[in-house]
Amino acid sequence: MEQQLKALQTEALQKIEAADNLKDLNDIRVAYLGKKGPVTEILKGMGKLSAEERPKMGALGNEVRGAIASSIEAKQTVLEQAEIQKQLENETIDVTLPGRSVKTGCQHPLTRVVEEIEDLFISMGYTVAEGPEVEKDYYNFEALNLPKGHPARDMQDSFYITEDILMRTHTSPVQARTMEKHKGQGPVKIICPGKVYRRDNDDATHSHQFTQIEGLVIDENISMGDLKGTLEVFAKKMFGEDREIRLRPSFFPFTEPSVEVDVSCMFCGGEGCNICKGTGWIEILGAGMVHPNVLEMAGFDSKKYTGFAFGMGPERIAMLKYGIDDIRHFYTNDVRFLKQFSVHQ
Ligand code: PHE
Repeated sequence: MEQQLKALQTEALQKIEAADNLKDLNDIRVAYLGKKGPVTEILKGMGKLSAEERPKMGALGNEVRGAIASSIEAKQTVLEQAEIQKQLENETIDVTLPGRSVKTGCQHPLTRVVEEIEDLFISMGYTVAEGPEVEKDYYNFEALNLPKGHPARDMQDSFYITEDILMRTHTSPVQARTMEKHKGQGPVKIICPGKVYRRDNDDATHSHQFTQIEGLVIDENISMGDLKGTLEVFAKKMFGEDREIRLRPSFFPFTEPSVEVDVSCMFCGGEGCNICKGTGWIEILGAGMVHPNVLEMAGFDSKKYTGFAFGMGPERIAMLKYGIDDIRHFYTNDVRFLKQFSVHQ
């Protein structure tokens, strides 16, 4: 019996030694240590033994069981470790692999310029006003001193929807609407950004739809000097501290006097180049002192109040600022164009 038990132990330990995975090891455990396993089976023959032999065999049986169990336990630890090791090896991350770039969009150059202009004027105490793009003839023209049949209406070829409703041709109707809301009470200090529409054939410098930013200040004692100072700050902020501006006489029905505003060329510094056509100056906006008729029509006392207004095209500003050669780039949404304005390049 002793030999049987020892042989069993040797056999079991060999199998344990040979087991190379946890499942086989478990099968061995069930086979050798189960209730009906071979140790129990052998010890059944104890009845035939002498009284002295019996406890010895009993103890040996337990010893064999114990040896098998601890050997299984030791092997189990080894196999588990190996398994973890294998898993770690399979799951290693190659930290030297270059990351995948996440594609992000970017702000449209036009939005960027509009926001920059807005921020500048907000910092000077202006508020942003908005109005409808589908506008009444009254606000787009009449309230701005452009009665029906006025020849200056031809300056802005329009998309009419009905006899009295059109797509606004400029952002000036927002100044008419805002003045009306103030009911003759100053001060007014607004800028109005927004889309405008004109019946134009699209080319490198014309678009049937573009954007404008209008500015309007009304108060007592507002002079042309205030207008010039304001636009000078604007030109320097947008195009650099070295820029200068000059005002040239012009005509708009809603301002008197009216001016066209040039900025010293940001490409040649005023020396004269092909962009400023050798003049050293580039036109950037129209402006003037609000016409007394416009003030009166909106309910302001033109003897008490004066004001200035200006209107500019952010496309033009952006084209000059970023050296963009075709206004259509803003609207065709070619990603190769837009990507150039990404801050994540
Ligand atoms: N509304 C004018 C235009 O679109 C621009 C302008 C605005 C001129 C305000 C003077 C004062 O041409």
